[in-house]
Amino acid sequence: MRSEKLTMAVVGLGYWGPNRLRVINDLHEAEVGWICDLEPARLAHHAERNPLARATADIDEPLADPAVDAVIIATPVFAHEELATKALEAGKHVFVEKPLAASCSQAAGLVELAERRDLVLACGHTFLHSPPVQAAKAMIDAGDLGAIHYVSSSRVNLGPYRSDVSAIFDLGPHDFSILRYWIERNPATVSAIGLDAISPGVADVAFVHLDFRDDLIAHVELSWLAPSKLRRTVIIGSEKMLVYEDGSPEPLRLYDSGIEYRDPETFGEYQLSYRTGDIVSLRVEATEPIAAELRDFTGSVIDGHQPLANGEVAVDVLRTVEAAEASMTRDGEVVRVEASQVGDPAR
Ligand SMILES: NC(=O)c1ccc[n+]([C@@H]2O[C@H](COP(=O)([O-])OP(=O)(O)OC[C@H]3O[C@@H](n4cnc5c(N)ncnc54)[C@H](O)[C@@H]3O)[C@@H](O)[C@H]2O)c1
Repeated sequence: MRSEKLTMAVVGLGYWGPNRLRVINDLHEAEVGWICDLEPARLAHHAERNPLARATADIDEPLADPAVDAVIIATPVFAHEELATKALEAGKHVFVEKPLAASCSQAAGLVELAERRDLVLACGHTFLHSPPVQAAKAMIDAGDLGAIHYVSSSRVNLGPYRSDVSAIFDLGPHDFSILRYWIERNPATVSAIGLDAISPGVADVAFVHLDFRDDLIAHVELSWLAPSKLRRTVIIGSEKMLVYEDGSPEPLRLYDSGIEYRDPETFGEYQLSYRTGDIVSLRVEATEPIAAELRDFTGSVIDGHQPLANGEVAVDVLRTVEAAEASMTRDGEVVRVEASQVGDPAR
């Protein structure tokens, strides 16, 4: 175990990167050594607020600094592969915001490079570190919900629009990574329809259907064109139902509800019994997910454990993203998703 702080370079200081700066500045085990952005005004703004960090527009400078242990890449996705490759080749551990890269093959290349160099590669699938998502995972694993029949999710808001990628590419990784974490395998097939209602060529709304086989399906609604913000996921199990609403004062509500079907004893007798029992609002920890994920990353660098959102998980998420994008361009055609390479027990 090393005792000194890890020195980090944060590359990309737009909307999301400054959150990383704030969190690293609060971590005991890490400090910001460098900040980097192509935009001079943005860089100057953050340099003033981080006087102990060196500021540059050129990532090669922190990469050449032997004091830098790790690099956080918070640039738009089209730059992820190039910057992460450079950082890994310079011998730095790397944390890349979601999605890991612009394609599965780029992401797989990064995973292979990190493995070859024996470096940590983690991806910012922030929701895997969200206490309600983890509590739901614990309930699913313990069988509290029974067999999962389906999951239905809405992730919608009015913006923020991105011009570089579709809503599937931007928002989908959140739900796809959560599903990957809960269900522990990739969907077998995906179909999606979408619409570029506002900005031609960039789908701002998409409805994605995922079939995991074994009687488990999921539906994900993604949109930048909705009247208000909603992040709501419903898990329907054979025993209980769970509603996860991110950002709500009651983020997890467990419904002791269900329907029981009894085989008819006589011809024409068809019996369903409805159960509507207690609704319990579950207490969840108030940990900040973006802090927890950076702590997981620094921990991986320090003690060598696999980060929760490791490169392999990030590749799996991109498998689903790519299949959904492909289906959307083919009017909802059912597209197969490549099986996970990360221990996929159902395959
Ligand atoms: N985990 C989450 O919940 C979450 C939320 C929002 C965004 N993100 C992810 O964070 C990443 C950044 O998104 P954003 O909304 O902050 O983008 P943004 O466009 O607001 O900011 C990106 C910044 O990167 C800089 N940049 C681009 N290329 C660069 C280079 N080669 N070197 C240095 N700086 C460079 C730009 O000048 C800009 O300041 C994306 O991958 C996005 O998907 C994650």
